[in-house]
Amino acid sequence: MIVAAKTPTVVPSLLAGDLSRLGAQLDAVKAAGCSWVSVDVMDGHFVPNISFGPAFVTLAKSRGFHVDAHLMVTNPLEAAPWFAHVGADIVTFHLEAIHGSDARAALDLVRGLGVKAGLAIKPKTPVAGLLAALDACDLALVMTVEPGFGGQKFLPDMMPKVSALRAEIDARRLDCWLQVDGGVNASNIAQAASAGADNLVAGSAVFAEKDPAAAFRELEAKARAAFGPSQK
Ligand code: DX5
Repeated sequence: MIVAAKTPTVVPSLLAGDLSRLGAQLDAVKAAGCSWVSVDVMDGHFVPNISFGPAFVTLAKSRGFHVDAHLMVTNPLEAAPWFAHVGADIVTFHLEAIHGSDARAALDLVRGLGVKAGLAIKPKTPVAGLLAALDACDLALVMTVEPGFGGQKFLPDMMPKVSALRAEIDARRLDCWLQVDGGVNASNIAQAASAGADNLVAGSAVFAEKDPAAAFRELEAKARAAFGPSQK
């Protein structure tokens, strides 16, 4: 199947948003060309933090965004319908949360909800499990921080995982976004994009900035300039 190359896309994460003016912040990045935002869902079990429920997907959809719900929860297959029901475009769950059960079947179950399905791995999880299910993924997520909190330091040691996944996606022409999430900023986004990430989640590097719109534009320009040869 010939798959059109994907344009490297920066995806602001609501986790770093200012909840007292999140709507205005979303409108600002939308005006700057942002079309996709990420909603980090944390349950206080899978990660030591509690964040957003489906209402934040509803908010982002009401502002006209493409939305991925990143489920950092111990019961992703139970929770997935709650986010699909409010219009999430992609629901991403963690390989570690399904405890060795069939990732392919889990991805198909999520897709059966009428949404696209993403699979994520934490920094300590080898890439093999994601590679094995890659052809069943609409999105593959390599965490570049230990999930749970925004504002952490980017882990460059995750880049070999990104390159391995990029090579497989390109070799098999898979229609799959390759996403990184965690600590992405203006100083490391080129490294992530040149390793092969075409989807780059950025929270603090956008919403903690004085001018989120300008920050978004700068990040996306850097990502597109650095993206791998296969997309040139
Ligand atoms: C971690 C979260 C964060 C968030 C991005 O569980 O997933 O990575 O999306 O936050 P920053 O960009 O501030 O690291």
